[in-house]
Amino acid sequence: MHSFHYENGSLHCEGVDLNALAEEHGTPLYVYSKGTILDHYHRLAAAMSDLDCQICYATKANSNIAVLNLLAEEGAGFDIVSAGELFRVEKAGGDSGKCTFAGVGKTRAEIEYALRREIYSFNAESEAEIALISEVACEMGVVASIALRVNPNVDAQTHKYISTGKSENKFGIDFSVIREAYERAAGLPNINIRGLQMHIGSQLTSVSPFVEAVKKVAPLVEELKEKYHIEFFSIGGGIGIVYEDTLASGVKDWWGGEDENPLTIEEYAAQLVPLLKPLGLKIILEPGRFMVGNAGILISEVLYEKHGSAKTFKIVDAAMNDLIRPALYDGHHDIVPLKEPSSESEEVDVVGPVCESGDFFAQNRLLPKLESGDKIGLLSAGAYGFVMASNYNSRPLPAEILVYNNSAHVIRERQSFDDLVRGESIPF
Ligand code: LLP
Repeated sequence: MHSFHYENGSLHCEGVDLNALAEEHGTPLYVYSKGTILDHYHRLAAAMSDLDCQICYATKANSNIAVLNLLAEEGAGFDIVSAGELFRVEKAGGDSGKCTFAGVGKTRAEIEYALRREIYSFNAESEAEIALISEVACEMGVVASIALRVNPNVDAQTHKYISTGKSENKFGIDFSVIREAYERAAGLPNINIRGLQMHIGSQLTSVSPFVEAVKKVAPLVEELKEKYHIEFFSIGGGIGIVYEDTLASGVKDWWGGEDENPLTIEEYAAQLVPLLKPLGLKIILEPGRFMVGNAGILISEVLYEKHGSAKTFKIVDAAMNDLIRPALYDGHHDIVPLKEPSSESEEVDVVGPVCESGDFFAQNRLLPKLESGDKIGLLSAGAYGFVMASNYNSRPLPAEILVYNNSAHVIRERQSFDDLVRGESIPF
């Protein structure tokens, strides 16, 4: 579900009028719906309830401490990829004992930090990393719990930048040599082998690659359970969401886009639970996008209209530095006016002020007529939106707001110019 709808001619997030919110806080502005995030968490947990299942939210998707806090309060664990994310999780009231630590390049300092915080498991991605974890654990006189990330060589059928489970990707340890890697890890001091992990990619819109990967890896799980008494199998994240026609009455032509065939949680569970249950161990899921993607919107204001000889450009005050997905992955985000539009539409490019031709949110898209001063919403921007934002072109980072029912709370202030130069100095 998501919680964006028109009411009295104005787009609302839950019970909050987004036009009024944008007037009050300015644009660009990220707004998230707490109700949507809770709904997604509970739907996923319910769908997997036949399993001993722990959801470890992929912190990287949206790491604002208010978002982490609300998931921590529901009992979520966290999949982290840096010491910084672990710091955030604990600041947000999350339990380090429910954290799994992924990533191919954990530094010595990060390993020390995570060992001090007694995380649940390092999901190790190479033998060199396991050796370093063992060395650091010995120095600290503690035991490190680890899982190995297996690369099952399965095609996730997603964008090449977010596909991770093929042999040519840098992630995990090759399926063909994983047994030997476990063998060697088991021989290292101060290492407790706790599980097996995989993650084949992100924004998967079909269950079949998950099924293929689980079927391929299940016999290995059984073997590892027998041999090393592993207690968990993490199948990673990757559940895709709908990016097109996301507003409920998506019948108007200007919402455009091809029909997406969404992967439903019910189908995901129906196909995977029967494969996972017989394994008889704890199943970890690491969803990021599914949890927060459709819960967020990026609001922007139309600054100018410009008629080129080939195109009409709507220049808005948000840019690729605020939301990089269209520029980086050709990602589609629905664009809707905050004032409910009439049926009049035109074909336009929606572009930002950054000095790059890649700075666009839509090209040749049929949108309702937009005037300068109108506010628009870029939908499904809750995942990999703000977290990938930068200060490029010395643009301050936008504010973030969390909405719940009729109230709205600023969960991150808009950056000031002073923030832009904080920590910089002029030498000599
Ligand atoms: N677990 C691991 C080990 C991961 O690397 C990721 C995402 C996840 C879980 C969560 O995947 P999700 O459920 O969100 O698909 N910036 C890109 C997505 C990068 C995903 C990186 N890894 C985008 O905007 O599409």
